Amino acid sequence: MIDSDFIAGLPKAELHLHIEGSLEPELMFALAKRNGIAIPFASVEDVRAAYNFSRLQDFLDIYYAGADVLREARDFHDLAAAYFDRAAADGVVHAEIMFDPQTHTARGVAFETVITGLLSAIDEAKAKHGMSVQLILSFLRHLDEADAIATLDAARPWVDRIGAVGLDSSELGHPPEKFARVFAQARALGLKLVAHAGEEGPPEYVYQALDLLGVDRLDHGNRSLEDPLLVTRLARSGMTLTVCPLSNLKLCVVDDMTAHPIDRMLREGLRATVNSDDPAYFGGYIADNYRAIAAARGLGRDDLVTLARNSFLGSFLPDAAVTAHLARLDAYVAQAPAE
Ligand code: ADE
Ligand code: ZN
Repeated sequence: MIDSDFIAGLPKAELHLHIEGSLEPELMFALAKRNGIAIPFASVEDVRAAYNFSRLQDFLDIYYAGADVLREARDFHDLAAAYFDRAAADGVVHAEIMFDPQTHTARGVAFETVITGLLSAIDEAKAKHGMSVQLILSFLRHLDEADAIATLDAARPWVDRIGAVGLDSSELGHPPEKFARVFAQARALGLKLVAHAGEEGPPEYVYQALDLLGVDRLDHGNRSLEDPLLVTRLARSGMTLTVCPLSNLKLCVVDDMTAHPIDRMLREGLRATVNSDDPAYFGGYIADNYRAIAAARGLGRDDLVTLARNSFLGSFLPDAAVTAHLARLDAYVAQAPAE
């Protein structure tokens, strides 16, 4: 039986969430109407029916098209506020969320519009839910490095409110090495570094993310398992992997949830975490990801608690905040009714 309530109440951090990927079809329609934009779908059901992907690019095409309804700061605010409400209901007490500025600036929406909308929702989430949030500015890897550098330059006035930079979008054919300079610039600004690697791309891309970008955390990283030497390196260095089970299933990174390697990752000593990636597109938020993996792989409470513990250890919070979250996690487990 799935420990559904235990999972929802388990204090946890979300470390891999694209805010544009939390755009639910209902909000997509509402924003299209508010902004007078035509969208190529007749109904919410029509939108959901289009969410069948056989690889990452199928999803990205729809994800970028959906983001077109986001035009004004209040749209970004409403998008993020809806996510924070859902995350809070799923036990998220800290979130490190990615946003893709280039998806918006390429359409003529100013960086300032995007970030002021997101920041207002972040400030509200702190007051409303007691949730702490960090922003991860993610570069689109299908664009060139000069575009990423221009994006980092546009972000400079807000750098104090950004925790990290990331790298996302079409992985194959766009290796991390393309972005070595912009990542070095971000590090010089005091930002943490993350990158998607080993989702569809080979272990070589994971090595590049480590050696050429110097990432502090790895997004996905599934294909690292193909290389035993890489697994040892990741385990020994305590590198956090932000694994996204429902995303992996929807994007055919795994054929079936029963074949998901999450417990193998834990067994091999990897600091794996569970996250939702693009929950509006992949059929569930973070607690649904915990539930899906628990059901498919028969995970017990010990594994679920390890995953939650890893989410705090792998966060970019200061040590004192991590310590406080771990104590709260222990207290929750101690008082939880027996299974
Ligand atoms: N952008 C949003 N979700 C993504 C994913 N899973 N991989 C790469 N880029 C993304
Ligand atoms: Zn992602």
